[in-house]
Amino acid sequence: MTQHHPADRIVVLTGAGISRESGLETFRDADGLWSRHNIADVCTPEGFRRDPMLVDRFYNGRRAELAGVQPNAAHLALAELERAAHDGRWNGELLIVTQNIDDLHERAGSHNVLHMHGELRRVRCTSCGATPEWLGDCLPDTPCPACHRPTLRPDVVWFGEVPLHMDRIETALAGCDRFVTIGTSGTVYPAAGFVAQVRDHAETVDINLDPPQVPTLFDRTLIGPATRMVPQWVIELLGA
Ligand code: APR
Repeated sequence: MTQHHPADRIVVLTGAGISRESGLETFRDADGLWSRHNIADVCTPEGFRRDPMLVDRFYNGRRAELAGVQPNAAHLALAELERAAHDGRWNGELLIVTQNIDDLHERAGSHNVLHMHGELRRVRCTSCGATPEWLGDCLPDTPCPACHRPTLRPDVVWFGEVPLHMDRIETALAGCDRFVTIGTSGTVYPAAGFVAQVRDHAETVDINLDPPQVPTLFDRTLIGPATRMVPQWVIELLGA
């Protein structure tokens, strides 16, 4: 009995740029989050120890913004590609590895999603390890719903911390036929190192408003807004 082997195993790595047209800010664009907030204050464990109220307010603000936005055509196109794999229109397999902490991929209908930098709509208890879903505000004295201790923090991976799901991500990268980056500046590791890791065995494609920092790492670059370029790329795949 022969095992079914999808002809096209694709790993898509997404960054803040895919959610920009939904109304969520990126980090490093001119008007991005890091132009107004200090990374050391709001995106490190040391910053959280120094001023947990400042950090909680930062993520509370982003959580409130997330409640007011919707997935866009780029998120929807990737969800459509996953559906096409399930219903046999496409002989492939899609895994989305996202650096984003928003839930727009899932809200668009994608299921095969790994959040390597955590999730904004979860908090984590540093006492009991619970990671409850969290849609509203969380403050330093907010009790954990499981152990009732006031030791909750955003369930986000900060600089200096180890990203999540790295074993599954490494396995998928080792076995992929195509690797596609969408809306990421390629400046933060380990994600920024994935393309060099797969170049020997996978086609590499970058989709972004701007050309990649190291164009030689990519076999193809699709320059333009994600809401236009991602649906075009998916139509091409499904048409092929
Ligand atoms: N369509 C396509 N690409 C876009 C769009 C758009 N509409 N708008 C912006 N971009 C691109 C920018 O050109 C840039 O290359 O998205 C990229 C956003 O880059 P960053 O702001 O650096 O975001 P990202 O790469 O996701 O950051 C990585 O850094 O701050 C940390 O943990 C945070 O996960 C984040 C990580």
